[in-house]
Amino acid sequence: MNNTVFYHCPICGNVITKLSNSGVTPSCCGQEMEELVPKTQDPEVGEKHVPVMTCKEGCMLHISIGAVIHPMTAAHHIQFIYLQFKDKDGHMGGRFVNLNAEDRPECDICTCSIKVEAVYEYCNIHGLWKTECNEENCPDLKCLEQKDCCQQQEPTNRCYAQSAEEKQKCEQQEREGNNTDSNKQF
Ligand SMILES: [Fe+2]
Repeated sequence: MNNTVFYHCPICGNVITKLSNSGVTPSCCGQEMEELVPKTQDPEVGEKHVPVMTCKEGCMLHISIGAVIHPMTAAHHIQFIYLQFKDKDGHMGGRFVNLNAEDRPECDICTCSIKVEAVYEYCNIHGLWKTECNEENCPDLKCLEQKDCCQQQEPTNRCYAQSAEEKQKCEQQEREGNNTDSNKQF
């Protein structure tokens, strides 16, 4: 598997990926950016960061962050989810779902005509995390299949807004320090 590579600027916080790779390390704020090495396990904080994939009816893949739901507040939230895939001809591609503090840390992505390889997510405090789609992480193997295109005109992403109650509870937990990962730096 050729993995998507993400870079981070420790000064301004920009996160980027290359659409074409010349081999040169990109720069930001006058210095080379740092390559983000995705983490795949999060036992210290109860798996709040590792993406969890669930195959729904038909072509939709549900992704949540993580097994224990990650907080979504202005100070601490998931900024994006990225699905890496191969198309029917073997070309690598990807789909981004950008999230903000108003959203739940989850989405549905149409997987018609693609073979899912991995899901990444980026937490503004704790960095890059990844789950590979393999027999261990996707035991029912549906994610590994290429499905025929559904009736939708375009592949779709679907996000979910947090309810006012969810948002209030999340912010309160952050204030009280119940989200034990909030002080950890990546
Ligand atoms: Fe986090």
